[in-house]
Amino acid sequence: MSPQDWEKIYEREIPHWAIDMTPSLLAKRLCEHLPNKSGNKILEIGVGNGRDSIYLAKMGNKITGIDIAQGAIDLAKENSKKEGVEDKIQFQVGNAENLEFSDEGFDAVYSISVLQYTILVDSFKEIARVLKPGGKFMLHMYVMLKSGEKGKELTYWFYKEEKVKEIAKENQFIVERSHTSWDKKHKGEVTKVLVMEMHKKEK
Ligand SMILES: C[S@@+](CC[C@H](N)C(=O)[O-])C[C@H]1O[C@@H](n2cnc3c(N)ncnc32)[C@H](O)[C@@H]1O
Repeated sequence: MSPQDWEKIYEREIPHWAIDMTPSLLAKRLCEHLPNKSGNKILEIGVGNGRDSIYLAKMGNKITGIDIAQGAIDLAKENSKKEGVEDKIQFQVGNAENLEFSDEGFDAVYSISVLQYTILVDSFKEIARVLKPGGKFMLHMYVMLKSGEKGKELTYWFYKEEKVKEIAKENQFIVERSHTSWDKKHKGEVTKVLVMEMHKKEK
């Protein structure tokens, strides 16, 4: 999907994933496994309404949150103001495949339900580049048994679980834990979710 396609989705109405502000369990798990108790520099990719960036900021971390759609960034900024953490988060438009950040600046990267829409080899390469050695990467993405299948609602490119792991390895990530589960999504569409907790190899 192009950036314009995402923009149109946010222009039409608040998309279904951006209504609820409840932080995800994965963001809570990330907090338990961060290198420092507080003050970690975390990059969230594909923030949607900002729910997890806001949670991570409330837990004492410094967040940079990007999304390909200006509509999502506007929503996330508005929500961070309402929650009183706007000074702890920098929200900006950005693309996972081409990150506008310097090398090795982040302690952790976090992304939930986004990377299946991207060219994964490019996104992984960029995430590895901006992470410090030993930095944490917490990933949730949709996968299916066959790559290249099309979803019913959005046109996305699914990757096989094995392929994701291969790309992770090629980019110097050590997988600490991974699991898959079936998820009954919006409008009854059933998809497979892959969660991977990784860190970038130390030098
Ligand atoms: C299904 S939503 C998930 C939002 C949020 N992570 C959450 O769980 O609430 C996917 C989000 O990824 C964003 N997105 C899609 N492609 C992207 C890309 N290449 N780089 C950054 N964000 C992207 C979309 O605009 C959308 O906000």
